[in-house]
Amino acid sequence: MEGIKLKQIGVSFKGSGSYVPDQILTNQKISKKVDTSDEWIKSRTGISERRISSPGDNVTEMGYEAALTAIQMANWDIKTIDLIVLATSTPHDLFGSAPSIQSKLGACNAVAFDLTAACSGFLFGLVTASQFLRGGSFKRAIVIGADQLSSFVDWNDRRSCILFGDGAGALAIEATNEFDNFLGFDMRTDGGRGSFLNLPSKNNKDSIIDNIDFLSGGFSSIQMNGQEVYKFAVREVPIIIDELLKKTNYSSHEVDWLVLHQANQRILDSVGERLKIPGEKILSNLEKYGNTSAATIPLMMDEAIRNNRIKQNDIIATSGFGAGLSWGAALIKWG
Ligand code: COA
Repeated sequence: MEGIKLKQIGVSFKGSGSYVPDQILTNQKISKKVDTSDEWIKSRTGISERRISSPGDNVTEMGYEAALTAIQMANWDIKTIDLIVLATSTPHDLFGSAPSIQSKLGACNAVAFDLTAACSGFLFGLVTASQFLRGGSFKRAIVIGADQLSSFVDWNDRRSCILFGDGAGALAIEATNEFDNFLGFDMRTDGGRGSFLNLPSKNNKDSIIDNIDFLSGGFSSIQMNGQEVYKFAVREVPIIIDELLKKTNYSSHEVDWLVLHQANQRILDSVGERLKIPGEKILSNLEKYGNTSAATIPLMMDEAIRNNRIKQNDIIATSGFGAGLSWGAALIKWG
């Protein structure tokens, strides 16, 4: 309408946090359990060790620690937080773990819910939260990625057990009228290829009474076709990032950091090569943590921010990908 100019609401990145459990499972130790070797795992994946939750740890505890450190960096009064999104596939409570994190933080004015999109979960959660900020409904949000895949790995399957670890990461984001540091995003799903990586429910038929049967709850372990997942990632991730860069009028030379879901070093290198982004701009910490699913992106970002690698106004291209199959990318400016 003429005469009325609506002000665009932008997103600002205010803080990061992370948490990993203390227990370290090295490649050498895994090779005592299954027929593998440090050399095989290191050369195929880049992973040397991963963190494993002890029986006292869970996604709520890890997510809480990551969120708290992000809030401290943002220097927020906890009561001013409006929204908490927890991306996880391994909640401590199947009805949702975000409310427990909200309560533990004392974020009494925040609405909190879980979001499940496996290794794309954090990216999808970040986009979801940013839409609430842009829409003007909320001002401050915490997005957490936390997973405890060690509980769902088949520790006798050498093809998959070597890849995964546990951890959590979080970002604090805020609505602002002054600028917009969420430069763009894109998200995709192809459920037709979902069987390449899934964690199906167990079909244990039981009976309640007489002829009334039911399926008792529970999940089996991670099922993965490694080669297909690898091919999917090295094909789709460069395409979605390239299209996003074009859409936002950025060139790959302007990207300061490529922060990909930490699945496999060979995937990171291949995506970087296809996008012509040099190795020194590709952040990687999977040597220490392996694939922590929804946690990898904020865990990596928090480490790089605290080490002073990612600095104010740096341009970050990020991409999450995995089970679903699902994948997505976001272009952000830190700060
Ligand atoms: N140690 C030693 N040998 C292993 C092994 C291990 N941990 N895992 C598999 N092998 C063997 C296989 O049995 C196979 O032997 P065979 O030819 O005698 O049958 C051989 O190594 C090659 O197996 P393959 O599955 O072709 O290996 P690969 O080169 O594809 O590497 C992955 C396997 C899992 C490392 C790789 O496919 C991968 O990283 N895929 C992506 C998975 C992923 O990132 N998933 C999460 C996405 S979010």
